[in-house]
Amino acid sequence: MNNKLTIALSKGRIFKDTMPLLNQMGIEAVDDPETSRKLILDTNKPEVKLVILRASDVPTYVGYGAADVGVAGKDVLMEYSGDSLYEPLDLQIAKCKMMVAGPVNYKPGSGRLRIATKYVESARRYYAEQGKQVEIIKLYGSMELAPIVGLSDLIVDLVDTGNTLKANGLEPMEHIADISSRLVVNKASMKMKNDTIKQFINAMTDAVNNG
Ligand code: ATP
Ligand code: PRP
Repeated sequence: MNNKLTIALSKGRIFKDTMPLLNQMGIEAVDDPETSRKLILDTNKPEVKLVILRASDVPTYVGYGAADVGVAGKDVLMEYSGDSLYEPLDLQIAKCKMMVAGPVNYKPGSGRLRIATKYVESARRYYAEQGKQVEIIKLYGSMELAPIVGLSDLIVDLVDTGNTLKANGLEPMEHIADISSRLVVNKASMKMKNDTIKQFINAMTDAVNNG
């Protein structure tokens, strides 16, 4: 039986919040991605490896089977269009909200709204559901700057404490979705390594419930 397992994680928040769950499952990382330059990390279990990716690349690696399982934010999964992933478990970590935000006391003008965001698909769906025609401007980060310098009227971004919005003279306006990170599983791996992956999902479910 092939019991090798490759787990895709991103550095930072997802690594920090996922490791306690993996630790409860008896999996310890040998290196710390914040200090190591390695992108493939060994664990105390020779059959389990961690691959360290950009958060938005996790669904792609898992979707193509380059990693068997991974942890990705719902925000990232909502932007991903492939159909080769299962999403069996809400890990209840990295919780925040996807929201429309804008300048404090914003008053809409008469023209078509301009929305700056990294979350183009989510924003498009949200406004389409409301029958609103908007212009969406794709950005890769620092969305809060866009309304300040007149690039857009509003933004669609993630909000947790609201401090980033506040520090930039913006406020949350409309709720789009509650976000948390999910375990994702490659569909082919699920078939080929069924026992290993089922055990992994069960152990991770216990870790989430006991954490
Ligand atoms: P990339 O490197 O691909 O641009 P990123 O910089 O958005 O990704 P992180 O900031 O590490 O990656 O965020 C990872 C995930 O954590 C996000 O996809 C989201 O689900 C969640 N997240 C982002 N910001 C917050 C926040 N302020 N509070 C809680 N969770 C958050
Ligand atoms: C995220 C998000 C917001 C901020 C919201 O950024 O893009 O800017 O958190 O959190 P708050 O409401 O608690 O202020 P992050 O800190 O991950 O920085 P990054 O997007 O540059 O990685």
